[in-house]
This record gives sequence, C-alpha cells and structure tokens, in this order.
Amino acid sequence: MAGKLETGRLIEILQEAKNIAILTGAGISAESGIPTFRGEEGLWKKYRPEELATLTAFSQDPKLVWEWYDWRRGIIGQKDPNPGHKVIARWEETFPTLSLITQNIDGLHQKAGSKNIWELHGNIWKLRCTEEGTIMENYDIPLKEIPPICSECGALLRPHVVWYGESLSPTILQESIQLSSECDVMFVVGTSAVVQPAASLPFEASEAGAKIVEINPDPTPLSLYTDFSIRGKSGEILPLIDRELKKTFKA
Ligand code: OAD
Repeated sequence: MAGKLETGRLIEILQEAKNIAILTGAGISAESGIPTFRGEEGLWKKYRPEELATLTAFSQDPKLVWEWYDWRRGIIGQKDPNPGHKVIARWEETFPTLSLITQNIDGLHQKAGSKNIWELHGNIWKLRCTEEGTIMENYDIPLKEIPPICSECGALLRPHVVWYGESLSPTILQESIQLSSECDVMFVVGTSAVVQPAASLPFEASEAGAKIVEINPDPTPLSLYTDFSIRGKSGEILPLIDRELKKTFKA
C-alpha cells in the first residue's frame, strides 16, 4: 500500500470492526509543532537523554531536570491538537469500542477530546511526590517554583513520566497488552516502533488475529509485518480515512 492510498479494503474491514486499538507515538503530535524524538529535529539531537531524563540526573540536579521539563511544558502548552488527534477522539463515537494507547506525554489526545487513554510513558502535566507517590495535575507555565515541592509532605515532586531505565506502570502495561490482544484492528500511528515494550503491542495484536494499520511517512521495523502500511502524515491520512468511512459507514 506504500506510496498509493487505496482505502477500499481497509474501509471494509473497519466497517466490520467492533474493537479498535490505536497506538500512537510522537509523530502524531509532529503536525502540532512538537518535535519528535528521533527525527532530524528530534529532541535527543539537542539534549542527551542520559543527562536529563533519568532518575540519576534528577537525583543529582533536580533543578536542571525541572528547568528542562518546564521549558518543554512551555512549548507543549502553546500547541493544539491537529486533525489526526481530532479524528481519533471522534472515533470513540464511531466504533463500539476504541482504546487509545499512547507513548506521548503531551496530553494533546485529551485536549482533542479522547477519553479512553492509556498513557504508557506518563504525562508531562502530572507531578508525582517522590516520597508518597501522590500524583497531581499541574498546568502552571512556568512552574511557580523549581524544583516543585509537595505541599503535603515537603518532599520533591518529579515529573510523572517514565525515565530511561525505569519500568512502565505494570497495570497500564498489562491493560495495554490485554487491549492489544482483544482488538480487531490496531492502528500504529507516528511511532518509530523501536522502544519496548510499546513496540511489542502490535505483535500482541497481530498474533491474536488483528489487522495492523501503520500510518507513518517513513518505514519502520514494524512496516514489514503490517497489513496496511500507509506512508503519510497522520494529520492528513486519518482525516482521509475518516472521510471514506463516513461515506460508506452502514447506517
Ligand atoms: P520517535 O521520535 O522515535 O518516532 C516518531 C515517528 O513519527 C517516526 O517514525 C516518524 O517517521 C514519525 N512521524 C513524523 N512525522 C509524522 C507525521 N506527521 N505523522 C505520522 N508520523 C510521523 O517517537 P516515538 O516512537 O514516540 O519514551 O518514541 C518512543 C519513545 O521514545 C517516546 O515515548 C520516548 C522516547 O524515548 C520515553 O520518553 C520513555
């Protein structure tokens, strides 16, 4: 399917599908102006993750790490969901069941209106107490104090995100595996499909019989194993599929 978008067969499959799972990565937010991790303008080209996105870095210099997150929150906070996020949010009404599993921490899916979200890597708008583990939402730009302190116990707060060398929430991961193995169709949108365990979810889905639809301008290690590999930007391809669906969806 690469190069030419022939949605006919895909639309037929979607008409019959009862249970859709969508796995997203940084690429879905690229058209909102948020840099991806590994592209030409990727975040990791400018900053060494081991200096900033690790527990060791945070323990050594919480102020530096928080300054980086505060800067990123400042950028992300100005961005809006793009047509790709919006189609995914609308599809919660279109399909009987739709589960959105995202590696993104930017909160743009929520801003677009998505509700059934599993955030594998946390959320930049949430802070977590390093002592008690309490999680709180915080949308301050800039943060009132850096590093922020827990008002309950006075301990340091950290970003509620998964850092290098840390494990994902076992509950969120387990539920994501379960959702992947139950879906009829899994869309894999805007991810380089190299970071585990997220990268294994399409294989869980495929082994359980789901069709895999990848949307990405570039090929990934997953592309060979997909049923539909659609090369293009998610902010263009998802609305295109949505338009075709609307034309043909059974009343
Ligand atoms: P990457 O930066 O690795 O990959 C982004 C993908 O999006 C690439 O495959 C691009 O080709 C694709 N892309 C770019 N523009 C696009 C567009 N307009 N539409 C669709 N796709 C587009 O980002 P992730 O795969 O999300 O983890 O990275 C996975 C994880 O690596 C992140 O969650 C982060 C990072 O380490 C943590 O922070 C724990």
